[in-house]
Amino acid sequence: MSKVNAILQGTLNWVDERFPLTSNWKAHLSEYYAPKNFNFWYFFGSLAMLVLVIQIVTGIFLTMHFKPDASLNASGVPVAFASVEYIMRDVSWGWLIRYMHSTGASAFFVVVYLHMFRGLLYGSYRKPRELIWLFGIGIFLCLMGEAFFGYLLPWGQMSFWGAQVIVNLFSAIPVIGPDLSIWLRGDYVVGDATLNRFFAFHVIAMPLVLLGLVGAHIIALHEVGSNNPDGVEIKKKKDANGIPLDGIPFHPYYTVKDIVGVVVFLFVFSIIVFFMPEGGGYFLEYNNFDPADPLKTPPHIAPVWYFTPYYSLLRAVTYPLLGIDAKFWGVVAMGAGTLIFAFLPWLDRSPVKSIRYRGPITKWLLSIWIVGFIPGAPVAQLLSVYYFLFFLTMPIWSSLDRCKPEPDRVTMK
Ligand code: HEM
Repeated sequence: MSKVNAILQGTLNWVDERFPLTSNWKAHLSEYYAPKNFNFWYFFGSLAMLVLVIQIVTGIFLTMHFKPDASLNASGVPVAFASVEYIMRDVSWGWLIRYMHSTGASAFFVVVYLHMFRGLLYGSYRKPRELIWLFGIGIFLCLMGEAFFGYLLPWGQMSFWGAQVIVNLFSAIPVIGPDLSIWLRGDYVVGDATLNRFFAFHVIAMPLVLLGLVGAHIIALHEVGSNNPDGVEIKKKKDANGIPLDGIPFHPYYTVKDIVGVVVFLFVFSIIVFFMPEGGGYFLEYNNFDPADPLKTPPHIAPVWYFTPYYSLLRAVTYPLLGIDAKFWGVVAMGAGTLIFAFLPWLDRSPVKSIRYRGPITKWLLSIWIVGFIPGAPVAQLLSVYYFLFFLTMPIWSSLDRCKPEPDRVTMK
């Protein structure tokens, strides 16, 4: 052993006697066995982690110059809005940091929606991965909160009126509603108090919860191991050393595979950041280039693209029920539409996990369900009813479907 190696080994031993570095490296990377048949859909977990890091790092730099202040400056522009303009025009590389953060928000939802869809395709939410899924649902709810709070901060017209619409929804709750919405805003209208508390939630409260939940998500994942495109449990077939026959060490095999995903992702991400940061009005809404004006309601108030499915559920309810306003039931539909995902592990009764071995009923019903997510679907009310029926009748159709038998070992198609 060369002298340098001896020093490095000595240092590692010194650390290992005080901190479980080598044992954790082995347990979670070099001797953590993952199914050997991961495909395209398995890129998005690591990409979600990458986007989380991008958002936190760019967010820290934005916070250094952003001012959560709704009062007007000497030119009559709200201070918060002007501070974002200052970041864009005067802070060195401020435009890049801001565009990375605004594009990152949309990228986060693209990646997380694909990641969740993979779960649906391969039945990854099912036993023994229910807790991975439930932590995932918690992450998703936090992410929606994080995006909503962050959207108010630039204090543009859409920030202001979007927050106004959403907070007002709470006033539809019988008895406590009106007081609740005042309590949430900290004022009778969206104002400086609202901006300050949304800032606090956006920069510290939500990110802390999000990080905690991501940690729990990964711990649960490493306890039971990953599912795979065949839905086969690789731990059922092990060799004499207790290593799954269909498993390969996460490092180096999947660390290298994930780098490929990272490079492709960063390529696409850079094209958007550098050449089309507004994303045609989808990533940055044009109305939000005007400073918030409480006296001028924009003709169209629309949420950012990633909230549109839930907004459709909200707007699809147009009838009052039990003497309570339709708006209240819209809020209930929107909330239920999000939370219903949490029950999937117990709604799905199919004998197989993966779509590969499921029958025509699942394939058809799932395909129609996806259509409901295409923004601007003209038959929103019908699709909203279908959205819920898909879940509520799942115990019946998932057990009736003509499935093919699951193989014993993973396949390498
Ligand atoms: C910040 C957001 C998230 C991060 C960083 C994250 C991270 C990860 C990672 C690294 C993996 C392992 C690699 C992979 O399977 O792709 C994973 C697996 C998984 N995640 Fe997430 N995740 C996030 C959000 C979610 C959400 C919102 C859900 C569902 C509601 C979810 C459900 C799952 C499931 C079911 C698995 C196991 C998949 C399988 O083994 O087939 N995750 N996640």
